Amino acid sequence: MAELEELLQVATDMLDRAYTPYSHFHVGAAAVGASGKIYGGCNIENAAYGVTNCAERTAIFSGIAAGEKRFTALLVTGNTEGAIAPCGSCRQVISEFFDQDAVIYLTNQKGALAETTVAGLLPGAFLELK
Ligand code: THU
Repeated sequence: MAELEELLQVATDMLDRAYTPYSHFHVGAAAVGASGKIYGGCNIENAAYGVTNCAERTAIFSGIAAGEKRFTALLVTGNTEGAIAPCGSCRQVISEFFDQDAVIYLTNQKGALAETTVAGLLPGAFLELK
């Protein structure tokens, strides 16, 4: 559970960094690279709404930019009533860089925790190179 607690702390810290002038909805994420390093991410909005980057993708892309090739686990959190779940675009990006059985933690700031896998989030994902 050490990993879970650390991921929740990193993702929670990310909530303060979210750039959300349009939705005011803060999301934080933490992704574990194959090296064992943890990468935090927040959502980053844009006046052209569709360009917005979700917290999950910010975490994953930060890891890729730091030299990671693969990831082993991801946690997402938000100020939601129940555990927050990644959007469809993030599910596709997660499928690209995580094994199908990698663990994905869905949490909120009130102690909710649901655990799923990449395959659970996006069964039958489009993976051209695999
Ligand atoms: N958002 C995320 O960052 N992750 C999710 O899993 C769902 C949605 C962001 C995008 C946008 O900035 C705000 O939440 C509202 O959709």
